[in-house]
Amino acid sequence: MQRQRTVVLISGRGSNMMSLVEAADAPGYPAEIVAVISNRPDAAGLGWAAGRGIATAVVDHKAFPGRPAFEEQLHQAISGFRADIVCLAGFMRVLTPNFVRLWQGRMLNVHPSLLPSFKGLHTQDQALAAGVRIAGCTVHFVVPEMDAGPILIQGAVPVLPDDSADSLAARILPIEHIIYPQALAMLASGSAAMTGDRVVYDTSRLSVNQAPFVISPDLGPNG
Ligand code: GAR
Repeated sequence: MQRQRTVVLISGRGSNMMSLVEAADAPGYPAEIVAVISNRPDAAGLGWAAGRGIATAVVDHKAFPGRPAFEEQLHQAISGFRADIVCLAGFMRVLTPNFVRLWQGRMLNVHPSLLPSFKGLHTQDQALAAGVRIAGCTVHFVVPEMDAGPILIQGAVPVLPDDSADSLAARILPIEHIIYPQALAMLASGSAAMTGDRVVYDTSRLSVNQAPFVISPDLGPNG
């Protein structure tokens, strides 16, 4: 099967982009990362990607008079790489419905909360303020409403009593790096697809695994 050409959009560090690139290096992975595009010229991830021989581009939002002009250039850049799939990986620009519709069903985002809880920014602060005992991350299809698209995969971690936003983010990030490559593989291989407001899975490909549940707090049977 033809590997799906994937463009990753970043705004900064790019650790999720790195996890996608590294996963796509494995034989048999159904997607290839053909380019990394940033809206910020100083995004640290750009240099890393270039060092791996991946094409990079900058579409600096500050160079455009408004969102539509920025997004037109962004769309052209993505299309220039003949992308099948777009992955937002720490891409911190709100996208207009017009742009989102161009890639609907083919654009994924990773978000550091268990959606639909804690949309937007400062997700770990939101989780701590709400007092949840389990937090996590989500990969979802991008739809016009922010952080609201059909959920493809989620990963969960415990919230510990003395957590700060930073310590919680540090526990969640490695899970993002596991689930995002899995999500891209599911979309690229056709074992998951967006249908209306749901993700439909090829259930013959899903394994039922009872082991990795999370109980939090977990003081054992005698409390
Ligand atoms: C990640 O934690 C990602 O989930 C989050 O930004 C971080 C980017 O890190 N994304 C959002 O908050 C989007 N709403 P990275 O640049 O190292 O991948």
